[in-house]
Amino acid sequence: MDLRLSGRVAVVTGASKGMGLAITRTLREEGARVVAASRKSSPGLDALAGPGLVHVPVDLMDEDAPARVIERAVSEFGQLDILVNNAGGPPPGVELPRGSFLDASLDDWRGMFEFNLFAVVRAVRAAIPHLLESDAASIVNITSGNARQPSPINADYGAAKAALANLTKQLSGEFAPQGIRVNAVVPGVTRTEWWTEEGGVADRIAAQAGTDRDSVIERVVPEMMDLATGRFVEPQEIADAVALLASPRSGSTTGAEFVVDSGLLKEV
Ligand SMILES: NC(=O)c1ccc[n+]([C@@H]2O[C@H](COP(=O)([O-])OP(=O)(O)OC[C@H]3O[C@@H](n4cnc5c(N)ncnc54)[C@H](OP(=O)(O)O)[C@@H]3O)[C@@H](O)[C@H]2O)c1
Repeated sequence: MDLRLSGRVAVVTGASKGMGLAITRTLREEGARVVAASRKSSPGLDALAGPGLVHVPVDLMDEDAPARVIERAVSEFGQLDILVNNAGGPPPGVELPRGSFLDASLDDWRGMFEFNLFAVVRAVRAAIPHLLESDAASIVNITSGNARQPSPINADYGAAKAALANLTKQLSGEFAPQGIRVNAVVPGVTRTEWWTEEGGVADRIAAQAGTDRDSVIERVVPEMMDLATGRFVEPQEIADAVALLASPRSGSTTGAEFVVDSGLLKEV
């Protein structure tokens, strides 16, 4: 299937690792030009270097960073068609999971909303004037199963992602008549560096459970979270959903939540 993304210009946040890297690679493979935002580059991102890729080193916790990324896309490639708000999760310096709601301070809540909601709001505000010029504009927000399924291990994160899901629906209604589609991809537990890197979540759960990182990923978490498929989501499976929603082939899809969660969520 030709996704008709060739020549389109996309901004992807959190693009150096995990889902963001898979999304960037997939959009490049589909012929889109990509402005990739993260604090640092990575070997995976460096491997995609070429005329259709620009890395903008920014900390999205800085208020003016999202607008700088959007402006770079327009100055470099002359247009903007796609915005993928992928960066999110615990803000720099914060570790999840927590033990209880009571373990998150008010500053933790502020930081979580700053990274997962306000940075997206800033990116969307900067992007909309340019997206209105596109004949196939699309915003894809990466939320989380925790937006629908709250947990004491990350109450602030779930609330911030729920707010992002709400914003996705609001924007979809307001801007569809002007040609901008806005959708969300809802990942379940996904095998990214957030889980797999040294000192990452899998290592922390392994220390608590008295086991090793591989067992946590292959067995402990799939059982603990009752994953219907029995395994983590792969970043490429998120990237494929994002590419489809970004594509004009999804022209009648807006305000949707595309769940890719290994069967984590059980409600109808
Ligand atoms: N993995 C999961 O199980 C899971 C499940 C549900 C939802 N999600 C959501 O999926 C999205 C991607 O998660 P992931 O697991 O792929 O994350 P990841 O592997 O930890 O990658 C995070 C990306 O964001 C960048 N980043 C982190 N802090 C940043 C900052 N302050 N400014 C700019 N860039 C920053 C990182 O690069 P630098 O460090 O160089 O900045 C990296 O490119 C997030 O929104 C997350 O909440 C993940």
